[in-house]
Amino acid sequence: MLVKCISEIRLRGDVKKDLISHLGKYYLLFKADLLSSSPTQTKVIHRLGARKTIVTANPQNVEYILKTNFVNFPKGKPFTEILNDFLGCGIFNVDGDLWHAQRFDPCCLGDQDSLYKVVPILTAFDMAAEISAKRATTPVAATWKLKKLFGVGMIVSGLSEDMIRDMMISFIMAGKDTTSAAMTWIFYAISQHGNVEKHLVNEIISHFNDEQCDSLQEMKYLHACICEIMRLYPPVARDSKHATDADVLPDGTKVMAGDRVTYFPYGMGRMESIWGENRLDFSPNRWLDNEPENKLGENLGLLKEVSPCKYPVFQAGPRICLGKGMANVQMIYVVASIMNRFEIIPVRTGFEPVYLPLLTAHMYGGFKVLIRRRPV
Ligand code: HEM
Repeated sequence: MLVKCISEIRLRGDVKKDLISHLGKYYLLFKADLLSSSPTQTKVIHRLGARKTIVTANPQNVEYILKTNFVNFPKGKPFTEILNDFLGCGIFNVDGDLWHAQRFDPCCLGDQDSLYKVVPILTAFDMAAEISAKRATTPVAATWKLKKLFGVGMIVSGLSEDMIRDMMISFIMAGKDTTSAAMTWIFYAISQHGNVEKHLVNEIISHFNDEQCDSLQEMKYLHACICEIMRLYPPVARDSKHATDADVLPDGTKVMAGDRVTYFPYGMGRMESIWGENRLDFSPNRWLDNEPENKLGENLGLLKEVSPCKYPVFQAGPRICLGKGMANVQMIYVVASIMNRFEIIPVRTGFEPVYLPLLTAHMYGGFKVLIRRRPV
């Protein structure tokens, strides 16, 4: 609410953005603490004039919502209405039969290469994403609906909505913002942890071959770094469903028909009950089975299987991210090819990045770096 008020008052653009992003960060941390201190890691939030929201970081509840009783927790109209101008009937924004049909049709993935060439579409995409994120934070839905009626807060790119919808069907949103956000945080984390960088460079030098896809699977430590960074900075901070019928969650929380039920990957990634005392540390080894290290100090263990209901970074259940495998391969490939050749040095020392949770969450202002060729 405070964030909303600031966005309405007159301030210099950059000052306003700074304020909003810092408040956003503290709001998320506050919410994560609130859930941590709740005996069932679940809170029911009532706001005047707004829909009742149940926020949960409880893995049993998450499993129930996303898997066991999936049919009772669709995205729902309140969500799909917000994103309708942006996503139309793309897979992200539909439930039921329309969703089912697209889920099983690989053609929905579209031709990514051709889309990346269309810069004006990407600009319109960013605008549409920003407008939709603002709508999602408006407590009273009537406000954005009224604005829409008068043409305020609409996309003015000259592109037809059909075109934007086509773009969505090709999943640019999924591929463009999520993976780039995760990789920004990876490079930041590497720059802060010399020992991690050393392990990674050793692994990449001994295993990476950019002409052999198989070599990507061998880089377990890099994969562990990717899992670990998305635990602390998930590209999707929270995600909501809307109950069709009244229900009771496994922890006993009562849900009424129409309630918003939000699972919270950001909070779950910081939960002591899930990750232990060192939950706030960046520690890729937690993802590796405890095998002996080799003489380079590399952990040769396998990647641990962690239930997606404890780590719902890619969601879980029937609607689990369709691009999970592709995203991991892309990120391993990109990070390995960069680190194989270059050192990444932060421009600013003592830089404290801010996690900005919009439709996808990213590092506020980006991560400014110097690139230096790695000595051979
Ligand atoms: C680090 C990268 C990624 C993360 C963290 C991520 C995360 C997610 C999450 C949390 C959802 C559920 C969103 C919701 O239901 O509101 C989702 C859905 C989806 N993702 Fe990803 N995603 C990533 C990359 C990708 C890529 C590269 C693609 C494909 C190009 C992709 C395709 C999809 C699709 C099609 C859905 C919708 C699935 C459905 O509704 O059935 N994602 N993803």
